[in-house]
Amino acid sequence: MDVRDGIRLDGKVAVVTGAAGEIGTATIQLMALRGARIVAIDRNQDALAKAVATLPANAEAISLVADVTNEDDVEGYVRKAVEAAGTIDIFFNNAGIEGEIAPITHYPIESFRRVLDVNVVGVFLGMKYVLPVMLKNNTGSIINTASVAGLMGSPGVAVYSASKHAVIGLTKSAAIEVTGTNVRINCVCPGLIDSRMLSSIFEGRNPGKQQATATKAIERIPARRLGLTSEVASVVAFLASDEARYVCGASYTVDGGRLTS
Ligand SMILES: NC(=O)c1ccc[n+]([C@@H]2O[C@H](COP(=O)([O-])OP(=O)(O)OC[C@H]3O[C@@H](n4cnc5c(N)ncnc54)[C@H](O)[C@@H]3O)[C@@H](O)[C@H]2O)c1
Repeated sequence: MDVRDGIRLDGKVAVVTGAAGEIGTATIQLMALRGARIVAIDRNQDALAKAVATLPANAEAISLVADVTNEDDVEGYVRKAVEAAGTIDIFFNNAGIEGEIAPITHYPIESFRRVLDVNVVGVFLGMKYVLPVMLKNNTGSIINTASVAGLMGSPGVAVYSASKHAVIGLTKSAAIEVTGTNVRINCVCPGLIDSRMLSSIFEGRNPGKQQATATKAIERIPARRLGLTSEVASVVAFLASDEARYVCGASYTVDGGRLTS
């Protein structure tokens, strides 16, 4: 199937943070192909320019450099998105970091604070400034990026796991706060996605043994393979669309069945 033939997002304005990263880029590509107008946000200017350059030539897209942990930056990207595109229909609140990979007994406190700052404060600030725009229009879909690590414990990434549990808590609470409106808030929980971040986690757990670690991890996934960034993007695009109009407060796993085994 041509991805353009999937659920359409024609004319919808989609703001995506972490757009220069692997999942963010796959998502802006898919959403642009399905007709959305893209506002791509990242703190890494060069990588952001490269990501936006991969979009189809006829895509409507702007990019804004911002740090999601900085409240002025967040207020700024939301204001500029509305000034440039007129509104925000979809918000993929996705920027995140894995932080250090180490057991709790060796985990540096600075890294703990940094992971919470990006993964939790960043997601919170994004909702704080995007929600008023959506509530004013009485429509919109927010998708926060959590992780299967937000639904289970995981050695070496306890802090990352705690941060993603927090994203799920923020998502559920925000979903209740918008009761009675046409604004929906959900999160996506990717499993082991073939990506730089997963390689970094495998390398941190077992230095020099990435391949063996991956093979062992795949044995616990019913789909018997890692996921693709495009497969996360597909679920995000569904949650963003009107097809998901009765989906609110949900945590959608995209993990090949990992959580069931
Ligand atoms: N890759 C996986 O296997 C996986 C699995 C589960 C969840 N996730 C989550 O998916 C999201 C995207 O991950 P990815 O694999 O694309 O990672 P990535 O490292 O490729 O991309 C993350 C992007 O976020 C940006 N970013 C980081 N801190 C920022 C900040 N303070 N302000 C603005 N931008 C910032 C980075 O510059 C980068 O472009 C993250 O929230 C991650 O935790 C990833």
